[in-house]
Amino acid sequence: MLKISEKTQHLKQSGIRNASTRCNEIGGINLGQGVCDIPIVKSIKQSACDAINNDKSLYSPCEGILELRQAVAKKLKSYNKISADPATEVVITHGSTGAFICAIMTLFNPGDEVILFEPFYGYHKNILNLHNIQVKSVPMSLDDLTFDPEDVRKAITPKTKGIVICTPCNPSGKVFTQQELQTLGEIAEKHDLAVITDEIYEYITYPGYTHVSPASLPIFKPRTITISGFSKTYNMTGWRLGYATGPQHIISKMALVQDLVYVCPNTPLQHAVLAAFDLPDSYFEEMKKTYHVKRDSVVNTLIELGFKPTVPQGAYYIMADFSKLKFKDDEQAAQSLLENSKVATVPGRSFFIDAKRGEKYIRVCYALNEQKINLAMQQLKVALA
Ligand SMILES: Cc1ncc(COP(=O)(O)O)c(C=O)c1O
Repeated sequence: MLKISEKTQHLKQSGIRNASTRCNEIGGINLGQGVCDIPIVKSIKQSACDAINNDKSLYSPCEGILELRQAVAKKLKSYNKISADPATEVVITHGSTGAFICAIMTLFNPGDEVILFEPFYGYHKNILNLHNIQVKSVPMSLDDLTFDPEDVRKAITPKTKGIVICTPCNPSGKVFTQQELQTLGEIAEKHDLAVITDEIYEYITYPGYTHVSPASLPIFKPRTITISGFSKTYNMTGWRLGYATGPQHIISKMALVQDLVYVCPNTPLQHAVLAAFDLPDSYFEEMKKTYHVKRDSVVNTLIELGFKPTVPQGAYYIMADFSKLKFKDDEQAAQSLLENSKVATVPGRSFFIDAKRGEKYIRVCYALNEQKINLAMQQLKVALA
């Protein structure tokens, strides 16, 4: 029998994928994985057909095509308030996940420690662990989405080399304020930490909350790799296109890592996604409005059913506390909801280091189209009546 490497021996299917697999098996409604099933706008689809018809089919430079890096740099300047040289400080990647992997391979060594706010996006922790990087968690309160900077200071040891900031955050829905970021920037500067920001939900914020890119603040700029992508904003999770910006010596090394791991991001789709930059502001406003309506509808239904949901400030996930309902723990809750209402959710433990801390939560995602969300809410109401 072939032996499995030490590195991958303990790898298991993520709670998120697990929820999708089980949901597909029974033909349920998937409020587990963050997938939006609304079609991509026509102009981008046409652009993809054109790219293929025009034979844009060869390897691209490992850092991505220059036109796309230029478009990303322009958007970084206008939307994120980050200046980046498209020639040297932007890399196009295989999804923002590809950017995250290239960043951690470039920045950290086995045995290093990296701080994550908990609850965290499971892929962040698992990718770090896969590279033998230890995760230290700092609690984010699910009551009011605040954290204590003292907890961040306490989590730092001589081995700590970085911190990941996900804003707007999956799964908590936290949108970090400029003041909170400034405090984190000062801590990162004092301890010479690298900062990786995951801003994949940057266009999905709710009234009262504004997305601030950490690297737009001078204290972060020299030590921050800003990551984002096209999956969520344009409903193209399967296209696998993302990007990163940061200091030139890190970005160029990330491109070399990318070259070795998968050579380059998908060439025709890099050309195709250029059309996304021509969309009017109304595209983003409409998207925000739609998610706002869905957020309120799902939050209200969860409250009606006896859950205590954390109201998200951004992104499209809700951590829902089910202590007042008759479930044994998070896994049984998710299983029971799937069996009885055909609605998939993710057990809370997927987002915590210690399963116990997640055992009274499920995560509910409202990215699917309004019709499916409404149907899912109806099915939950019937099952929990
Ligand atoms: C916080 C966060 N980062 C990254 C991703 C994946 O992004 P991509 O499709 O660009 O790899 C997700 C998907 O759910 C996510 O929630």
